[in-house]
Amino acid sequence: MASLPFHTFLGQTILNPRALIIIRKGLPSFCFFVVLLLTPSCAFSHIRQGFEEDKGRKYDLFPEILMEEAVARLNELGEVSDADEYLQRTFQSPASIKAGNLIRLWMEDVGLKTWVDKMGNVHGRTEGINPSEKALLIGSHLDTVIDAGKFDGSLGIVCALSALKVLNMTNRMGRLRRPVEIIAFSDEEGVRFQSTFLGSAAIAGVLPASALHVHDKSGVTVQDALRENSIETTEENLLELKYDPESVWGYIEVHIEQGPVLETIGLPLGSVKGIAGQTRLKVTVRGSQGHAGTVPMNMRQDPMVAAAEIIVLLEGLCKQPEQYLSYDGECRASEVQSLSGSLVCTVGEISSWPSASNVIPGQVTFTVDVRAIDDMGREAVLYELSKRMRQICDRRSVFCKIDRKHDANAVVCDKELSSQLSSAAYAALQRIKGEVAIDVPALMSGAGHDAMAISHLTKVGMLFVRCRGGISHSPAEHVLDDDVWASSTAVLAFLETALL
Ligand code: GLV
Ligand code: MN
Ligand code: MN
Repeated sequence: MASLPFHTFLGQTILNPRALIIIRKGLPSFCFFVVLLLTPSCAFSHIRQGFEEDKGRKYDLFPEILMEEAVARLNELGEVSDADEYLQRTFQSPASIKAGNLIRLWMEDVGLKTWVDKMGNVHGRTEGINPSEKALLIGSHLDTVIDAGKFDGSLGIVCALSALKVLNMTNRMGRLRRPVEIIAFSDEEGVRFQSTFLGSAAIAGVLPASALHVHDKSGVTVQDALRENSIETTEENLLELKYDPESVWGYIEVHIEQGPVLETIGLPLGSVKGIAGQTRLKVTVRGSQGHAGTVPMNMRQDPMVAAAEIIVLLEGLCKQPEQYLSYDGECRASEVQSLSGSLVCTVGEISSWPSASNVIPGQVTFTVDVRAIDDMGREAVLYELSKRMRQICDRRSVFCKIDRKHDANAVVCDKELSSQLSSAAYAALQRIKGEVAIDVPALMSGAGHDAMAISHLTKVGMLFVRCRGGISHSPAEHVLDDDVWASSTAVLAFLETALL
């Protein structure tokens, strides 16, 4: 880590961070940066009063809605789980239906018209002054990983609801220049069916009809899972979910950063300039099942050790792509260079058959998740992995198969939306804190987001929110109450400036 350039680590990239540090109040930048570094958690804690004055204008900070209620809702959603001991909500599970119902109630509390669509997405819409204007969509996902944190996905939904609630309470919701629709997407994590963005891809019109027939580990298909919840989805009505691009103005999403950059800088919010592309594979290795005590070591065709060798190969390839990728037309030097800053690869799930301590397995399957900012570079890595994997399998006399389960190209966020979101984030921090000494940074996202799927429909912009230690996909995931407040206030500021 120490040898890496300051601007790239853990799959997150921040652009020219030093260039972003702008002194607004005459403090030496270095001192201010150090102060922020040392005190990120208390930066906003002293401000709790209701009004803050800015250039003669008074803003009501609505802490009871934008912070207290938002935090209470995040906690409430965090209790809605399919497991007793940890948080887990997968596509159309009982807990995800319960969470969707709760979100729908909150949408109704804000005065939104609500409905659940044929992919289980929960919608809440207000028409503003002109229902025929193109709509702003605001969303994030209601599903979680296994043993999840309570902010991933939920934060974006709850912040949007809180911001609209303030507009409603102050009689401004009906004055919005265009319709605003909050969507709680049913599946971003892809835990149950291994194919992410079931909800948002359907709305963007990029979910193939075949997705309905993908099955989970117990053989239940996406279509069956929906039917179990009285949602009858056919290949025909799936197509009807696609929004007309002409009816949509843009999409914004607030999400926890899931990395350490904002905490390092000492700011609660950052804008997102792009999202890394990703591929998910399922690798199957088949060998010769046998007795652990009787088959001599040199007579085995053991898929477990072949899988182990492939996994170690993957680590080497993704740590040092320049040492593995050839420059013979498959991959340009520039791709390799950009890969070494953003490429991350993970084997997160592995299983063997028959999975017994005294049996040489007959089959091993494992997942591979590959992400990079550079789509061509990611393809080059996948090509190299498959080539070298076949060599390992041939040498070990086992059969290997790769199924490509999911692909999403990298996404560049819309410049204008990003700049509006940065200004809204800056305004929110000013309203809450009084003064802000550094600009809101622009980050790259190594994590996938519904914005990736929605980018096929309309322009997208995202705001990232600081999370403790950069930890996510873990129960240790945490966002300060004040940062939840900053997030909801930023959505409110965005709506006020872009839509009122
Ligand atoms: C979603 O959280 C992902 O990036 O896998
Ligand atoms: Mn996630
Ligand atoms: Mn997420």
